[in-house]
Amino acid sequence: MRYPVYKPEITKNEKIYVNECLDSTWISSRGKFIEKFESAVASFVDVENAIAVCNGTVALHLAIEAYGIGAGDEVIIPDFTYIATANAVKYTGAQVVLADVNLNSWNITVENIDRCLTPKTKAVIVTDIYGTPPEMDEIREYCSIKNLILIEDAAESLGAVYKTQKAGNLADVATLSFFGNKTITTGEGGMVLTNNNEIAQKIRKLMNQGNSEKVRYYHDILGYNYRMTNIQAAIGYAQMQRIGSIINRKRKIFEIYKNELDGLVQFQEIQEHTKSSYWMVSFLLRDKFSRNKLMTKLEENGIETRPFFYPVNKMPFYENCGNLDTEKLSDTGINVPSYPTLKEEDIKWICSIIKNNL
Ligand SMILES: Cc1ncc(COP(=O)(O)O)c(C=O)c1O
Repeated sequence: MRYPVYKPEITKNEKIYVNECLDSTWISSRGKFIEKFESAVASFVDVENAIAVCNGTVALHLAIEAYGIGAGDEVIIPDFTYIATANAVKYTGAQVVLADVNLNSWNITVENIDRCLTPKTKAVIVTDIYGTPPEMDEIREYCSIKNLILIEDAAESLGAVYKTQKAGNLADVATLSFFGNKTITTGEGGMVLTNNNEIAQKIRKLMNQGNSEKVRYYHDILGYNYRMTNIQAAIGYAQMQRIGSIINRKRKIFEIYKNELDGLVQFQEIQEHTKSSYWMVSFLLRDKFSRNKLMTKLEENGIETRPFFYPVNKMPFYENCGNLDTEKLSDTGINVPSYPTLKEEDIKWICSIIKNNL
């Protein structure tokens, strides 16, 4: 038996809807499932516009570009995030500025954003790391005072709640990923969410080769083909129909791990007013040596794990970013199996191996 870190659950409706696409030959980026999927996500997150695209990275690229951010501008992002957050900024020609994260919440803070502020700063991207949004009230207030665009990279947090608002609706614009290990998957896929209709319109144009609204096959701006297919949307729509139970299951899986391991390992600090999506169960070990030793032991038992992301500043094309402290997280963090069909007794067995090897 092998326990992967993640595998999506594909049920009957995904297959029915995909077959409907195949039978009807609506397999490209037109077809009823795109609209159904977009509406389902918009209504779940409670946001005006949901725009399906082909992955979470291009969703970020579109969100940044739609605000006219580019060469000569700076965008502050957390040093601890998936590389796509940084790359999407770089694609636009803007400069990536890396802010440290808090070692308990693993998230960006106003204090760390403020240290990176310059007259060239145009936007801040927060990542809801491992499914947990940062302190958004403080960050929103700061961005509003400093006149900065706020972008939420919610790739990992669909289903999380900050106070009364859902993740994906916590900033000027937000992005989702539907990669196979995300709360909802479409294989590859992503979405841009915003309450700003003008920005939404711009994003639809940019993702569609910059097509003029007035003249067919006339392209009055440089655009991209970042469209999602009807087949991908069919899978996503089927998943959205049972998102409540998927999220409940993820929370339950986290609770079992937490009950077994609390006090022995360091979980992410989550404020009372925040509910995480618990994208992947994650925790820190004492040091890099014990983390790596535990990973080897779990692998010997068929249990796959993942180390935390490297800090962005460790990549050769993002170096020279100042005095950053996120290496500790990256060196000691681990993701353990958290897929929805994982059974309680298997989690307890995995935890027993963890406890014996701390
Ligand atoms: C925080 C974060 N941002 C962006 C992405 C990029 O999404 P995708 O892989 O769909 O391009 C991911 C996906 O892993 C992610 O975790």
